[in-house]
Amino acid sequence: MKSMISLCIGLIKRIFILNSLSIIRPDDWHVHFRDHEALHYTVPATAMHFGRALVMPNLQPALTTISVVNAYYERILNALDKTVSFLPYMTLYLNENVLPDDLHHLRQYPHILGAKLYPAGATTNSNEGVHSIKKLYPLLEIMQTHDLVLQIHGEVTHGDIFDREARFIEEFLVPLTHDFPKLRIILEHISTQAAVEFVLQAPTTVAATITPHHLFYNRNQLLAGGLRPHYYCLPILKREHDQRALQQAAVSGNPKFFAGTDSAPHAKKLKENACGCAGIYSAPYALAMYAQLFDELDKIKQLNHFMSVFGAEFYHLSPNQDRIELIKKEQLIPTSLPFVNDDIIPIAAGTTLQWSIHEST
Ligand code: DOR
Ligand code: ZN
Repeated sequence: MKSMISLCIGLIKRIFILNSLSIIRPDDWHVHFRDHEALHYTVPATAMHFGRALVMPNLQPALTTISVVNAYYERILNALDKTVSFLPYMTLYLNENVLPDDLHHLRQYPHILGAKLYPAGATTNSNEGVHSIKKLYPLLEIMQTHDLVLQIHGEVTHGDIFDREARFIEEFLVPLTHDFPKLRIILEHISTQAAVEFVLQAPTTVAATITPHHLFYNRNQLLAGGLRPHYYCLPILKREHDQRALQQAAVSGNPKFFAGTDSAPHAKKLKENACGCAGIYSAPYALAMYAQLFDELDKIKQLNHFMSVFGAEFYHLSPNQDRIELIKKEQLIPTSLPFVNDDIIPIAAGTTLQWSIHEST
């Protein structure tokens, strides 16, 4: 009887160990919160699981000065439940009009980590983006001097949409890394094997974020069996071999690769539209999706560093101090969620995830 009980306890413990995981509270190093009323939806959804997030500056008008970034920062803090411990980090929208003085003084604002480069026309709200990277060189020089981080949307705006990331790397990023050997650069939301290979061979000043959607899907989910606007994002989902390369990079334990969800909410009516917006809303489910992917690849032990350590290290920040518990328990993603005066269709809507989040302190 006694041995039977200890056998059962052993079994329960084993099941428990295999089916739950405690990690340092993660950070989301790339998120879109939008503004005003939307903040009351987006900020709590990210703050629920993530300790910190880097908030993208592609509002309209774009956030090109310290003062508008700071005003936006205050609006985000106001949308936050004061009992939740969450820190937004900001980045300036970089274009030819950014004032050199703002970059010289950016270090005085520790919640602003750098500046984001969007090629003009490459994605949502990038019409104020950069037309000539060469013309930015004096500003990049200042960023390098002050050790500010440059986040890049790495796509050219011409040629085949499936080749735009690879072409950006060849035409702009390779020269940029040679011309600014000390500038810390993050190639955001990488989507191709070419990007993985570039980051791997680049100096340690270069890193990349990887989204849950580029890990979970390829262009078949977007296009096969019908046109599925809720899988449309930029950079567009690529080929299966690209997806596999991203998966291998994410679970590799290489500190150059870390989590950035690129959770980018657009109301349902703007997605289900003759000209649907680019962006996938993943904030409430991203952590469970990353966990599922790492588990499926038998690399769940690498999840902690990918989610919670490597990104912080790249930004010269300490990891969060508290932890979060993940459990291998099914959760059904709702088919839609309320969003401002409309609905939003989240990533993987209507499907079941194998992992859930269980808060523990
Ligand atoms: O799919 C995307 N949506 N990619 C981006 O680069 C921007 C984002 C957005 O702001 O909606
Ligand atoms: Zn983005």
